[in-house]
Amino acid sequence: MSDKQNPYSAPDTGHVWDDTLRELTNQPPRWWMLGFYASLALVVVYVIIYPAIPLVSSHTKGLLDWTSIKEYKEDLAVIEEKRAEFERPLQEMSAAAILADDNLADYVQRSAKVLFGDNCAACHGIEGQGNQGYPVLNDNDWLYGGTIQAIEQSITTGRNGMMPAHPLSEAELNRLADAIIAGNPASEPLFGFPPEGKGCAACHGTDGKGMHALGAANLTDPIWRFVAADQRESVKHTIQHGVNVPGNSQSRNAVMPQFGGGKLSDTEIRKLAVYVHKLGGGQ
Ligand code: HEC
Ligand code: HEC
Repeated sequence: MSDKQNPYSAPDTGHVWDDTLRELTNQPPRWWMLGFYASLALVVVYVIIYPAIPLVSSHTKGLLDWTSIKEYKEDLAVIEEKRAEFERPLQEMSAAAILADDNLADYVQRSAKVLFGDNCAACHGIEGQGNQGYPVLNDNDWLYGGTIQAIEQSITTGRNGMMPAHPLSEAELNRLADAIIAGNPASEPLFGFPPEGKGCAACHGTDGKGMHALGAANLTDPIWRFVAADQRESVKHTIQHGVNVPGNSQSRNAVMPQFGGGKLSDTEIRKLAVYVHKLGGGQ
């Protein structure tokens, strides 16, 4: 123990380290002690007015009868009531009527993003920008038509484009592919009807601009349903092996699943139709 004197007024506790460091019995400052006692008092107040002590199957309720879950549910009810203003009419209106109502269409455009993300984005992209093998939904090039009715139909029943395989000679495939890549299939006699032609025009139209009723693609524009690095080879492949031809593993696969029949509710389908229409390409 150090023989030096304690120079401070507070008494020594008797603990001394390293011969020099003494522990004194100084009281904390008064303001600090007041704060300490006030916080003890506050704990008691909190226990009285808020839920605090867990019991076997519940807990003390507190005088205010407040819980965070209750506050959350009240806030949610306020939001639901605001939503109901829009959701109620949506139950009865047709997709076309919703689209014609600026307020409702605006609401759907903002609220159906999640629905689209959950059900459609995996194939069509989160902005409807399309994916390898899956058509773009935010442009105005449509296989089956871009009217609100056609879009609703696509979602409700699904789509399944059919094009038969055309086992043609290499020379014939080249002639058709060249005319299509050039954007003018109608100029190629093989495109037309027999005896000279192979009957492509029956589905793709005599002008080659496609046919919505059959989902037959427009062959005069540079927008490709089946995109490939070598687009000319891709076109030849499609002609030779067709689309969705049963039993032909080389055939293009193009299946839009059906969302009607219980997978989504009618209201959800109408919302999605309006949402897709408003992605930019609706007609
Ligand atoms: C499993 C992938 C897949 C999912 C999921 C999917 N689609 Fe499709 N969708 C397709 C394919 C493939 C086509 C093209 C069908 C064809 O070529 O015949 C298509 C076509 C469409 C068309 C027609 C496009 C046109 O050009 O006429 C619309 C509209 C559409 N889908 C909307 C939706 C909506 C809305 C959803 C979500 C509810 C959805 N799709 C979910 C694969 C999918
Ligand atoms: C029975 C109807 C039918 C006939 C006949 C038909 N097609 Fe098609 N064709 C389609 C449909 C439907 C699609 C779109 C498939 C899809 O996306 O669902 C298509 C797609 C295509 C594509 C792909 C276009 C793209 O953007 O990638 C090419 C190329 C094509 N057809 C060329 C032809 C040629 C050439 C012929 C004649 C030798 C022909 N088709 C005959 C229905 C037909």
